[in-house]
Amino acid sequence: MHYKTVIVTGAAAGIGLATARRFAKAGARVLGLDCNPSIIDLGKKIPGFAGIVCDLTDIEEIRAGLHDLGTGNIDVLINNAGINPSPSSLPGTSETVWNGILETNLTGTYKVTRAVLERMNRGTIINISSILALSGARNNAAYAATKGALVSLTRAMARDHGPAIRINCVCPGAVQTDMFEKYLNRCDEPEKERERIRRALPLQRLGKPEDIAEAVFFLCSDSASWITGQVLVVDGGDSA
Ligand SMILES: NC(=O)c1ccc[n+]([C@@H]2O[C@H](COP(=O)([O-])OP(=O)(O)OC[C@H]3O[C@@H](n4cnc5c(N)ncnc54)[C@H](O)[C@@H]3O)[C@@H](O)[C@H]2O)c1
Repeated sequence: MHYKTVIVTGAAAGIGLATARRFAKAGARVLGLDCNPSIIDLGKKIPGFAGIVCDLTDIEEIRAGLHDLGTGNIDVLINNAGINPSPSSLPGTSETVWNGILETNLTGTYKVTRAVLERMNRGTIINISSILALSGARNNAAYAATKGALVSLTRAMARDHGPAIRINCVCPGAVQTDMFEKYLNRCDEPEKERERIRRALPLQRLGKPEDIAEAVFFLCSDSASWITGQVLVVDGGDSA
């Protein structure tokens, strides 16, 4: 493993935390950026991992976080942080909610990536999108729009930044994290909905954050050295 410095956004929980752990386990120096202050304590518990409280909507906080990292090439960037508050159809989405989702999921990715590219002479970037980027889903207009944009951004950037930088996208399906639990809690019968989703999957189990972390790790490894601009769906077969 020759990746030394790895940045993971939204690393305080769920998929981001599992991904940060995966790279730290492989010996990388991992910097997690998250607006949740719990990221600091995690840094004390996981060898090789340091956390910085940082809101991705704030470019000054991002720059300060990267400054703390010192000099040297940033080898890997995982754009993972994302939100989906009050999911709704387009008419049910207020302009405030629409702008908030775009600000974190899309513009936040733009801001972090732009800052990191100043420090990445060679390396690899993964954008965490969603299967909702590829298939329709009711009441998720703004979220799906941002996740679709990340797929397009991945393809566009792969052409701009090769051969030195590979850029790929991972589209998770239903993964058991806080975000997924929030979705279930909005349903009339959360446990029935959990079971309905699970049974519909060819692989008959919901995703774990580690399932996504392993896919991300593969795409960043030398085993994927001829893969760029691609979308890897990791969804238990939901979209098969
Ligand atoms: N869980 C799923 O089923 C699922 C499915 C498809 C895609 N995804 C995507 O995977 C990514 C991770 O999702 P998760 O389920 O682990 O979510 P999560 O809600 O469990 O964790 C997201 C983390 O991002 C952080 N975050 C949010 N906004 C931020 C901001 N502005 N600045 C800094 N940090 C911020 C949160 O504090 C949190 O620690 C998201 O982009 C999500 O859209 C998740």
